[in-house]
Amino acid sequence: MMTLAPGAVIGIIGSGQLGRMLSMAAAQIGYRCFIYAPEKTGPAADVCAKWVQGDYGNAAALAAFAKSVDVVTFEFENVDPAPLRSISDNAPLYPPIDALEIGQDRIREKRFAADCGGRTADWAEVTSRADLDVAIARIGTPAILKTTRFGYDGKGQARILKPTDADAAWDALSGGAPLILEKMIRFEHEFSLICARDQQGGIAFWDAPENVHKDGILATSTLPAHAKILEQVPAARALCRRIAERLDYVGVFAVEFFASDDGPVFNEMAPRVHNSGHWTIEGALTSQFENHIRAVAGLPLASTKLAAPQVEMRNIIGADADKWLEWASDPMSHLHLYGKGASSPGRKMGHVTRLGGL
Ligand SMILES: Nc1ncnc2c1ncn2[C@@H]1O[C@H](COP(=O)(O)OP(=O)(O)OP(=O)(O)O)[C@@H](O)[C@H]1O
Ligand SMILES: [Mg+2]
Repeated sequence: MMTLAPGAVIGIIGSGQLGRMLSMAAAQIGYRCFIYAPEKTGPAADVCAKWVQGDYGNAAALAAFAKSVDVVTFEFENVDPAPLRSISDNAPLYPPIDALEIGQDRIREKRFAADCGGRTADWAEVTSRADLDVAIARIGTPAILKTTRFGYDGKGQARILKPTDADAAWDALSGGAPLILEKMIRFEHEFSLICARDQQGGIAFWDAPENVHKDGILATSTLPAHAKILEQVPAARALCRRIAERLDYVGVFAVEFFASDDGPVFNEMAPRVHNSGHWTIEGALTSQFENHIRAVAGLPLASTKLAAPQVEMRNIIGADADKWLEWASDPMSHLHLYGKGASSPGRKMGHVTRLGGL
């Protein structure tokens, strides 16, 4: 175990809003962040100490980056894990590469969750049009066809409500990438758990937000969650604990669950800070970003307790960003804009967190 002293440098792989918020949390405790990303600039550019432009697959550049920092973490998990070994050869890397490999592949993720004692939707691997018919015959409809990798914000998914939808779903997604068919779980409430684990094995959970998605994109995270979710939190936490311990995880990760009538169903995990944890910046005593930085820096975790009886985080998507002044004018709302410039439909431009019941 090594504890970083103030002034130490944390390297972050990835350049988006998560890197921006991690850099801000790190700066608060006196650490500096260097960003590594293929883009020329990005949301993290305004707040980091240094920007290193390089491809995620460039092992030599990643090794040089690792040598220039004290520890490395990532905010973006869709990177080829092989070159990341050149980071871990040159600097401590948290979370472990295993977590990244599992989290970026829906099939590995579901197998791993099941190994840890979790329930997932019934699923089948689909590599050909004929496989899809076999999978539909076994799993039934409604079901969802998804790419096994690189999906985000509902992209790379097609719903199959009846067997005759199979052709359209296949045409939409069969570009050669491996696919998975998942049974559609019936649920009224969806939630996530944000979990942090430090280098001594200490684990902390925040209260579970209830998440509502619109068009496949997270719209709101609200606390307290519905009673149906609250009763499923202990079982869901037990699963997260097993996941964290099995991976010897260090840092923050998120697991998305459906609150079904038969208990929590694991949807997916993200080996990083997560959109459904943004409310923790003002809604909890310590944010997911600060605790992630604490964990990778070798510090103990700080309190994850709620800071208000009610918290709502709302994503600002696309042209909604034009309404920024409305939120900025509400004294109980905290406006976060990611510095992305032009909005486009479906693009996450920022979020706003409103505290209530105080
Ligand atoms: N098997 C399922 N049964 C019912 N609903 C589902 C299922 N899979 C996905 N959904 C719905 O679609 C949403 C997005 O799906 P998923 O989490 O797989 O997508 P994603 O593209 O990885 O999204 P993100 O990375 O933004 O969380 C889920 O939060 C849920 O509302
Ligand atoms: Mg999801």
